[in-house]
Amino acid sequence: MCDALSDTAQLADLFAQHGSPLNLHHLGPFGDNYRAYADLLDQHNLKHLIFFARKANKSKAFVQAAQQLGFGVDTASYRELAQALELGNAPEKLVLTAAIKPAKLVRLALENDVLIVLDNVDECVLVDTLAREMGKTAIVGIRISGFTVAGEQLYSRFGFPVDDAVAFISQMGATYPNLQFKGFHFHLNGYSRHERGAALATTIACADSLREMGIATDFIDIGGGLLVRYLQEQSQWETFMHELKRAVRGEREPITFGNNPLGLQLVAGKIYGEPNVYPYFNTTPKATFLAEVLDYRAATGETVAAQLRNRAIELRLEPGRSLLDQTGITVAQVAFRKWDSRGDLLVGLEMNRTQMYSSSADFLLDPLLVYRDDPRPTLPPAASEIMGYFVGAYCLEQDIILKRKIPFARVPEIGDWVCFPNTAGYMMHFYETEAHLFELATNLVLRDGQFVLD
Ligand SMILES: Cc1ncc(COP(=O)(O)O)c(C=O)c1O
Repeated sequence: MCDALSDTAQLADLFAQHGSPLNLHHLGPFGDNYRAYADLLDQHNLKHLIFFARKANKSKAFVQAAQQLGFGVDTASYRELAQALELGNAPEKLVLTAAIKPAKLVRLALENDVLIVLDNVDECVLVDTLAREMGKTAIVGIRISGFTVAGEQLYSRFGFPVDDAVAFISQMGATYPNLQFKGFHFHLNGYSRHERGAALATTIACADSLREMGIATDFIDIGGGLLVRYLQEQSQWETFMHELKRAVRGEREPITFGNNPLGLQLVAGKIYGEPNVYPYFNTTPKATFLAEVLDYRAATGETVAAQLRNRAIELRLEPGRSLLDQTGITVAQVAFRKWDSRGDLLVGLEMNRTQMYSSSADFLLDPLLVYRDDPRPTLPPAASEIMGYFVGAYCLEQDIILKRKIPFARVPEIGDWVCFPNTAGYMMHFYETEAHLFELATNLVLRDGQFVLD
């Protein structure tokens, strides 16, 4: 990141060619992130197949990299699947998990013998009918949900109720002759290792019941949702939360735009709830997260890893965000500086908030500033007289790029750059829109020391 940002001649060139903001990608960490998962699964002697959840980033470069590194791609739409096939990714290393599956998409998967994960009875009817018309047998996974963990049922709008799954699958051959059941799929909301472990144990029990009926389960796919650790120090997280609460209670000056509580509730001077943000600091990222899932002990006392191994069931995962950790940054150009009626500095950026946006109430990473006359990217100072907010190009009062107030070593100049680090997973792409007919940001990939179009 720092190398790319320090080369201000190259940056100026790229902005001149492609406009602002730019999404810059580096594929190195993608392979490292994959290998960390694969190594752990190998250490456990597990059969495994990892799919990159493409929805987390639109760039084709990751689809190609997955192919070169020998792992799979999870596709969630017609264009995601069509591109992966055009790029030459092997059909047996693709999975279709789209939440909505139009007939055109199902046909494409069937033509190429791509595994289709089915969510409901209507999808079973559609896929079975189209497969029959095309003279094909569809290879399918069944998505399940509604696991009971510690006496509570985990709700999801996706999938078949787990309690009905065995009965349903045992009838599938008779009801849907052109569907061939291969395995189970689930993807849980939230970041609980315990819930994933428990859901995996329940799914293995389903596979056992099916085996007694002579139906094999080749794989169990536990989806994505493996954590990324965005912050280096726990103290960064704790200090911010502490100061946010003080600000919301009015005990100090605001540290967020309009004293935004980021989801905290203030009732009669007391704070309730938690900020609605991703756990940007956590102690269980990536392979550590997966290790805890694998170590979950089923009722038999065995770990789920041992259960999978003993049954030769392949474990599948679909990480998106965590495979993209450290692979991308978003850089925008400063357009203006002004002081608003509250006396706050507003730094206008040539971008809008959909170009760096997550479902979190805010993106809690510090930006890097690149002053053109001093090309060493700098983090915000610990404290400064000069504090302000980044604002964007949409005609919305809410087009505030970061809700946090940022200290500046000095007021940026027009044409300086602001870099938002580690944005490749969802932040740069998932919510981007073309309102006002703004162009979408250009995606560039570092190849042989040069940033080239994705
Ligand atoms: C079915 C499915 N698989 C994989 C993922 C990727 O999750 P993550 O990027 O959090 O790893 C998602 C995300 O929504 C999903 O819905």
